[in-house]
Amino acid sequence: MRTHYCGTLRSEHIGQTVTLCGWVDRRRDHGGVIFVDLRDRTGVVQIASDPERTPEAYPKADALRNEYVVRVTGRVSQRPDESLNDKLPTGEVEIYAESIELLNAVSKQLPFQVSSSDTENVREDLRLKYRYLDLRRQRMAGNLKLRHNVIKAMRRFLEDCEQFIEVETPILTKSTPEGARDYLVPSRVNPGEFFALPQSPQLFKQLLMVSGMDRYYQIARCFRDEDLRADRQPEFTQLDMEMSFMDQDEVLALNEALIAHIYKEVRGQDIALPLPRITYADAMERYGTDRPDTRYGLELVNASDIMATSGFKVFSGAVKSGGVVKVLPIPGGNDVISNVQIKPGGDLFKEATEAGAKGLAYIRVKENGEIDTIGAIKDNLSPEQKEELLSRCGAEAGHLLLFGAGDTATVNKALDRLRQVVARRMNLIDESKHNLLWVVDFPMVEWNADDNRYEALHHPFTAPNPDDMADLSTARAVAYDIILNGYEIGGGSLRIYQRDVQEKVFELIGLSEEEARAKFGFLLEAFEFGTPPHAGIAYGLDRLVMLLAGEDSIRDTIAFPKTQNASCLLTEAPAGVDKSQLKELFIASTYVPKKDEKKDEKEDASK
Ligand code: AMO
Repeated sequence: MRTHYCGTLRSEHIGQTVTLCGWVDRRRDHGGVIFVDLRDRTGVVQIASDPERTPEAYPKADALRNEYVVRVTGRVSQRPDESLNDKLPTGEVEIYAESIELLNAVSKQLPFQVSSSDTENVREDLRLKYRYLDLRRQRMAGNLKLRHNVIKAMRRFLEDCEQFIEVETPILTKSTPEGARDYLVPSRVNPGEFFALPQSPQLFKQLLMVSGMDRYYQIARCFRDEDLRADRQPEFTQLDMEMSFMDQDEVLALNEALIAHIYKEVRGQDIALPLPRITYADAMERYGTDRPDTRYGLELVNASDIMATSGFKVFSGAVKSGGVVKVLPIPGGNDVISNVQIKPGGDLFKEATEAGAKGLAYIRVKENGEIDTIGAIKDNLSPEQKEELLSRCGAEAGHLLLFGAGDTATVNKALDRLRQVVARRMNLIDESKHNLLWVVDFPMVEWNADDNRYEALHHPFTAPNPDDMADLSTARAVAYDIILNGYEIGGGSLRIYQRDVQEKVFELIGLSEEEARAKFGFLLEAFEFGTPPHAGIAYGLDRLVMLLAGEDSIRDTIAFPKTQNASCLLTEAPAGVDKSQLKELFIASTYVPKKDEKKDEKEDASK
């Protein structure tokens, strides 16, 4: 059908007769000469036709419209000087069409313009409904190619340089605890019983280590029924890895080499290794989060000890009741952030209170160390307290200090959020930077006040630090997350591989012996048949590609993603099913649509 791809033609092809296939990106009539930008996966090239040079093709060129599918044959020629286009890789050449064959026309009005020459302002719901058209667009096609190249680089590195083998693990399986709700699949042949779709291949990859596979990887689809955000999908892809007989330093070094390989392959960029490491405790203290964006400063300062003895009750009270007072010092903040923004009703106030803060106190540092505050802070600080505070915050004239006071988690959450908002507002983020770092030494568990029990911070298969075995409730885990520009792109740990340790951890998180046996008996049993020490990690592939592509949403890196409310606008899944199907599965829906809820016409489960 064709001899070349459109985007590959260069001056070296001049004089050759080529046949191309593709879509009409756009058609322009320049007073007798018709120009058609012909597009395929590789790019766009200019086709030309006029009644004198190409009399046969001219009427056909004239009849072409956007997105028609055509086959064109013609000679590659040099473009005249005045029409050279250095923005286009093919911009030196054009093809005078000797023949144009219409392979397929467009018979409906396009829901939006696909051409790369159109600026993009298409609503996302429309893009998702006509995703196949959306994916024709350069930006989206580019993202899918980038995704492919990232996966290819991963495979080449892991298989060819590091002897990993890919093993597929089941999709119809049992619940794997990664902290989200499961997607369930009813079993017809085992009435009343359900498979769970895997939240990750965690247990199977550990069992593969028991099998002696030594180094496993998989480009694995995972399913989690959780609240969706721009960086979360109900169905997403991990690069999942597990390896035997490696300690934490070896695991991190191997993964750093992997990341460096990916950056070199897809961006031609060298990454400085080793990557920085920060402990969980340090990250929480300095940034208020375990996934700090280190492209900018704005580090938090702990002022609890100073404020414990201050006369300002809100602050001293917070410390006395076991909480903290922390400061977000903003150099130059006085000129940029107004009192209106910080006071009730203001946007920064709103950010803080949405994160759980009760209010937002501030100090403005003036010339000569004078300060200005909302309310009573100023009058309740001794000169020594003031001096210590300012010096600890590195505060100079022009600094704005925003305060968080209360329980540690809420203060951290509020100041982390403010730190990010302020960095964006003040243009402090160098978008060209790719700051990678490891967060290590996570706690094994955290207290879940709602359920009144400890909960595994990663998952319950994470090994405790051998130095902390005396009290597992305060133990550090040998776990690591990899952070890129404030996003958690991956996480993993050394695993528990001894039955007694695993049982202790289950007990700690409130799993009774029977529950542990019912849920994970197969794993506990496997541990008794010679399990090697092992460790692993999983990367969020969609997130990694999002950041490499410079996109803000993982939906733009997935061919057919779900919307914010977990549905597919293209296929209209999920949808009702026939009553007979439900009957076979011994399932009846108890769902009663609310009065004002629109009844879905396709909803036939109630037939
Ligand atoms: P974790 O739950 O941290 O670890 O997941 C690993 C990485 O997967 C990505 N991720 C997601 N991406 C898109 N949408 C989601 N809903 C979503 N949830 C998670 C994140 C995250 O860092 N079994 C362990 C790994 C291990 O211990 O080896 C696990 O799944 O980038």
